[in-house]
Amino acid sequence: MIDISNINPAIIQKLRDLEAKYELTGQDLMSNLEGLQVANYLKYWDYIHLDTLLSLQNTRTDFADEKIFIIYHQITELYFQLILHEIQQIATRQHLTAQFFLDKMLRINRYFKNLAYSFDIMVDGMEFEQFRQFRMALLPASGFQSVQFRKIELCATDFIHLINKDYQTKLTDVTNTALAFKYVYWKQGATDENTGKETITLQHFLEKYEEEFVDLIDKYEKKNLWQCYLKLNEDESTAQLKEALREFDVLININWRLSHFRSAVRYLKTKGVALEATGGTNWQKYLPPRFQKIIFYPELWTLEEKEDWGRGWVTTQLGFGGG
Ligand code: HEM
Repeated sequence: MIDISNINPAIIQKLRDLEAKYELTGQDLMSNLEGLQVANYLKYWDYIHLDTLLSLQNTRTDFADEKIFIIYHQITELYFQLILHEIQQIATRQHLTAQFFLDKMLRINRYFKNLAYSFDIMVDGMEFEQFRQFRMALLPASGFQSVQFRKIELCATDFIHLINKDYQTKLTDVTNTALAFKYVYWKQGATDENTGKETITLQHFLEKYEEEFVDLIDKYEKKNLWQCYLKLNEDESTAQLKEALREFDVLININWRLSHFRSAVRYLKTKGVALEATGGTNWQKYLPPRFQKIIFYPELWTLEEKEDWGRGWVTTQLGFGGG
């Protein structure tokens, strides 16, 4: 028998709080306490759905290193999910402050740093010959079709900065999102220059996601990260935030893209000859940041910095200096 006089008053207060909570939704405290009494303890493996998580690495071949390839892609997609989670909080925050924005940007940058630095797992971490063979079983799928990567881009900046450079000045009506979307920069990378025909990889991607992308552009027109930055009160201190946005621009549009490009060079280029990629792009011309020149926040960079965007690494390490 419990001696009531010995019960910690904090417990009694907690019971009162719980009773008030349940009353609000017409529930009864006693029934819920009974439920608690019979409920099983939570176990770590159930909480993180470990069995499900470890059942998702379904390789298409028996090459041992394909497992590394698939798991690293999955890890990257989980980081992308974390990044979108932070972006969404900034975009939907009532009374957004520079401090809240900054805290979230620092998280996003931390995630992207991890992604850029860990790319060695791809570049150095698989046997060349195995990669060469198992990649053929993955045709025509490509990381090019990463919907979360595309969403990060669309939520980060005004859509005009994601339009193919040749059309940025020619496109007269950017308010027609469906029309403007036809000129998103990455379509060019997956379209035959001579025939204008889209690769099958691009066709599949658009069939599945085009509508969602167009909706997202409209939804984020006034709340993408750049617009959120512009809306901050002038008296808010934004120097650190400005620096965090610049860092984000470099991390995603130079560092990550270069780390990724290094893996393409490592596996798809031998003795100066480039192999065809699974997504069928002209990847040597398309992937280097220096050629893509995707800059989310051109207003935060000097002319010279923009001119030199992504230049050093490509020219020195690969001899892709060119135009
Ligand atoms: C050995 C590893 C890898 C190689 C050789 C490689 C190769 C390529 C190539 C050649 C392309 C151009 C499209 C194509 O023709 O397929 C591409 C695009 C892309 N890949 Fe990878 N990739 C690798 C790993 C990854 C990983 C781990 C991710 C993470 C999700 C990823 C995400 C992407 C994205 C987002 C694009 C589009 C980039 C853009 O449009 O600028 N790739 N990849």
